[in-house]
Amino acid sequence: MIDEDRSALPVHGVPGERVLAEIRELRALDRPTHGGRLFAYVYDPGVAGLDALTAAAYAESAHVNGLDPTAFPSLLAMENALVGAAARLLGGGPGTSAPDAVGSVTSGGTESLILAVKAARDARPDVAAPRIVVPASAHAAFAKAAHYLRVELDPVPLDPATLRPAVADMAAAIRPETVLVACSAPSYAHGVVDPVEQVAEVAAAAGVRCHVDACFGGWTLPYLRRLGAPVPAFDFAVPGVTSISVDLHKYAYAPKGVSVLLHRDPALRAPQYFAYADWPGYTMINPVISSTRSGGPIAAAYATLRHLGDDGYLELTRRTRAAVEVLADAVRGVDGLRLVAEPESTVVCFAATDPGPDLFVLVDELAARGWHTQPQLTYAGLPRSVHLTVTAAVAPRAAEFAPDLAEAVAAARAAGSVALPPELLALVGSLSPDSLTGDLVAGLAAELGLSGGGRLPEGLATVNTLLDAAPPALRERLLVEFVSLLQRPTY
Ligand SMILES: Cc1ncc(COP(=O)(O)O)c(C=O)c1O
Repeated sequence: MIDEDRSALPVHGVPGERVLAEIRELRALDRPTHGGRLFAYVYDPGVAGLDALTAAAYAESAHVNGLDPTAFPSLLAMENALVGAAARLLGGGPGTSAPDAVGSVTSGGTESLILAVKAARDARPDVAAPRIVVPASAHAAFAKAAHYLRVELDPVPLDPATLRPAVADMAAAIRPETVLVACSAPSYAHGVVDPVEQVAEVAAAAGVRCHVDACFGGWTLPYLRRLGAPVPAFDFAVPGVTSISVDLHKYAYAPKGVSVLLHRDPALRAPQYFAYADWPGYTMINPVISSTRSGGPIAAAYATLRHLGDDGYLELTRRTRAAVEVLADAVRGVDGLRLVAEPESTVVCFAATDPGPDLFVLVDELAARGWHTQPQLTYAGLPRSVHLTVTAAVAPRAAEFAPDLAEAVAAARAAGSVALPPELLALVGSLSPDSLTGDLVAGLAAELGLSGGGRLPEGLATVNTLLDAAPPALRERLLVEFVSLLQRPTY
């Protein structure tokens, strides 16, 4: 049995075996990262032996420091190989229209996007108040980049039928201060590919960089195309595309902590770097945000790509796509649900028809049956929905989804909708984000079962219903407060 004492700094060190047992015990509280029943956060290829390989590769390079490529050429070699592979997959490299494509390995999609925005901003020192144009469906990391870098975000509304922005609206949003225009390939929420060719053309005509956020699907779209899917042009084959991000810790199935940011040529990448020599220590030159960074994730990603290989990814994409079809059919086959978009990549996204089940209750009912889906809140005229990121490991399980979905829908209908107390709804309707006090948050948290100390309620339907009733600015404030309640040190 494990000690009650869980101090991270015990008076006397604890034997390794016991520490590992403690970690395993904690991990048992988590959603299952393997087994094809978790449709967000993790990307599981379901390939036997891959975890052991990547763990060994990680361990080999865990203490190597990416701070200085001259001290650790092993890391430079693996980074250059990863960037080369990503560039070649995405229309760059020798013999393509982007023969001089270069890139950097970052810690994830968010870092890649922050750096794409930074490079675009710093390439235009003449613009005092820079702006970026993105579809409203662009990943929230663009908003984070804009916030961190003091760049103004111009989101372009979506056509509710196609879930894409109109090209004319993207063009109209470009101003003299615009330093970057972005597209997703595909968007996270709905898995649809933006009209990259047309948007890149209007960006190029305005002399503005165009970034394609292929963080999510950049490693599957080329394989989907090879499998015969009608994937539109989205990569360096499109002349106006100046940079592309693709996350290896998503559909390249590498362990967490690796994304690639590609630029069409070195001059476009140059303003991404940060160098500093005006202090008495070592001269600093960082291509990415972190300075010291572990070689572990990079070595693990290198091992993953080398081991799976091009034919491996083709087969994994084939399995993933087959699973998508099975899951989408399951949704089509249930009364009360509809697909928000016909799946064109690796996402299944569904909403309720009228009258349908309460989707937030349904999410909890699915979780009770071992299927962990992701609820998406009502937004700008789009209904609340349920998001499924489908990976190759889902394929062997996919046929089990339809009966469980039907049963969960029946249970959700029988349970009825979440009915928040009217005074609570009225409160959320009237609150401004700035008027939230500590007492109010504590009261709300108690009402929702979100007590302090890191404990979470069984089901989240009530929390989701409350957030759904709040406008985005209040959702943000509530979530900050709720998560801050969870993040309390244990002593
Ligand atoms: C399209 C897209 N861009 C960016 C990101 C951010 O990636 P990360 O969570 O690795 O920072 C995601 C994550 O899901 C994404 O789907």
